[in-house]
Parts: sequence; C-alpha cells; structure tokens
Amino acid sequence: MHDLDKIVAEAIAAFDAVADPAELEQAKARYLGKQGALTERLKGLGKLATDARREEGARINAAKDRIEAALAARRRAIADARLESRLAEEALDVTLPGRGLARGGLHPASRTLERIERIFRSIGFDVADGPEIETDFHNFTALNTPEDHPARSMHDTFYVAGGKAGPVLLRTHTSPIQIRHMQSHVARYRHLPVMPEIRAIAPGRVYRVDSDATHSPMFHQVEGLWIGEDVSFADLKGVLTAFLQKFYEDETVRTRFRPSFFPFTEPSAEVDMTCVFCHGAGCRVCSHTGWLEVAGSGEVHPNVLRHCGIDPERYIGFAFGMGPDRMTMLRYGIDDLRLFYEGDLRFLQQFV
Ligand code: PHE
Repeated sequence: MHDLDKIVAEAIAAFDAVADPAELEQAKARYLGKQGALTERLKGLGKLATDARREEGARINAAKDRIEAALAARRRAIADARLESRLAEEALDVTLPGRGLARGGLHPASRTLERIERIFRSIGFDVADGPEIETDFHNFTALNTPEDHPARSMHDTFYVAGGKAGPVLLRTHTSPIQIRHMQSHVARYRHLPVMPEIRAIAPGRVYRVDSDATHSPMFHQVEGLWIGEDVSFADLKGVLTAFLQKFYEDETVRTRFRPSFFPFTEPSAEVDMTCVFCHGAGCRVCSHTGWLEVAGSGEVHPNVLRHCGIDPERYIGFAFGMGPDRMTMLRYGIDDLRLFYEGDLRFLQQFV
C-alpha cells in the first residue's frame, strides 16, 4: 500500500476509534494539523523536481480530501449519536397519567354576584355596568346629594384628582350606575312615545375609607332600579322579598321596611330580612333581634329622574342597593370579611 493510502487508512481508523468530539479534534490534528502526518509530507515537496512535485502534490491533496471527508462524516455520526442518546434519555412517556393541575375556581364574592345576576335576569332585569372612577356629578350631584352632604367628606371618599369637570373619585356606591343607565336608556328610546321600562341591576366594586373585620376599603354593592309608569313601593317589596327567598333558598324569609333617609330616594327605607340562621327567633348572628339589615332602598327622588331627562310626573320607580359581601358571609357562614381579600388558598379552595 502506498504510504499515503496508509496515512488515510490510519486516520479513518483513528477517527472511528473515538466517540467524543474533543478527542476527534485531537485525532484530526495528528493528520491535518501543523505537525500532522500529511502536513509533514507537504513540507517535503520543496525538495522534489517540478514534475514529481506536481504529481506528489496532487496525490497528497487527494489524500487530504479523503481524510477531511472522513472527518466530517465522523463528526456528523458523533453528533447524531449524542442526539439519539439524549432523546432516549429525556424521552417522555406521553401515555403516563397527568399529575393533575390544581383547579381554579370562582371567588366566593364572584359566585354571589353571578347568583344575584342569574336570579334578577330570571325576573326580567338587565345587568348594567359603569366606571369605578367616577365624576363627582355621577356619584353625588345627579343623585341629589348636596355639596355639604357628609358622604362627600374626605373621610369617606377616595378622591383621585380634580379635573376640569370637577373632582374625580372612586365611586362610593353603585348608585352612579343608575344615572348612567337612565341617561343612556333615555337617549336610546327618545324616539318612542312611551319610554320602555327600566329594569336593571348593577353589581360592582365600590370604595370607602373604612377598614375592620366587617368593613373593607373596597367592597361590593348591587344596585337595583325599576322605573316605569306605575312602579310602586309594593313592587319593591315584592321583588326584594322574592329575591331574598330565592337567594337563600328559603321560602320562609320575610322582609320589613324601616323608614330611613337617602338623598336620592323619597320615601326611603332600610330593608331587613328575617335572620337566615334562626328564622327570626334571635341568635348571635342577628344580635338576638331576629332581623338582618340587607339593603337601602326607596322610590327614586324626582330630582334624580330630572337629572336623567325623565319626567317625574310621568315615570316613577324604586331603587335599592345591597351588600353582596355580607350576603356571601351569611350564605357560607364566614365571619371575617378580610378573608375575602387576603388571597389565602386554604380559604378560597373551599369554594372550588
Ligand atoms: N347607595 C346607597 C348606599 O350606598 C344605597 C341605596 C341605593 C339606597 C339605592 C337607596 C337606593 O348606601
């Protein structure tokens, strides 16, 4: 065998003998490197006569090509083998049963809101919405709340900024949604000789400067509104009583209305229901009165209707506002409102 063929055969054998990329590069250096076997041969060319040099040079180059081809093939083979073994090592058994993701669920406050919406939808109420950052006009003025009303005081209200249109604040109740809803209702049905009835609830977050076991600076309210040509206090009582019986799944629930004051309703009433725990007999939850306070309510004040472009001589109706957080506490027997907002999974998971 010609010694060049021998070098080529040796190189191929050396490449085949290693399985590691670094070792392969070392083997390469022994043949193609600066002091490699082939390089040494090239250096010797100078001593040859021209013709012999050309011939020998071509043979050395051919040998070099073969060695390089073998090297490239071996590099590929090693890389492939490595990939294969990694794939085998990291193989996933897709037939294994899953580990199971923790199931998410609705927050108890959201469950209550959904439940309230479902019940009111079933008796023909729409669900209205409004911004949590409100203007002073929608939150107070349009609701017949005079400038000096205590509800406007810095102690109760989170003021955000003062804009060109007056102060901007975090709404302190859902009642401004009444205003927005009536205004858009009026605009939508302006062309009709008789305004279709307004029947809507408006659930949402509200904000007040207040924080203890039963008060959170952010809490929920659900506003209710029914305006038509002949909507009376009796309708208010009927709707709220039926709603509470449905909500608590208890047909023995009774309500009572106590005279009260709200700037935006006249007459106004505080709504109580018989205690869901003792059914009126008196217990710890109802402070032994047999009654639980559940809502503020009343016939919408003529000034409020006027602010919304509704003729109070022709249309009349009621509004109420209730606290779904308290309702959630009563329904699930929760005694601290702060649990709602701490995000403790041990608490929340009970509702999944
Ligand atoms: N907005 C009142 C409050 O937050 C509740 C209410 C709503 C009372 C509608 C009457 C009518 O206290």
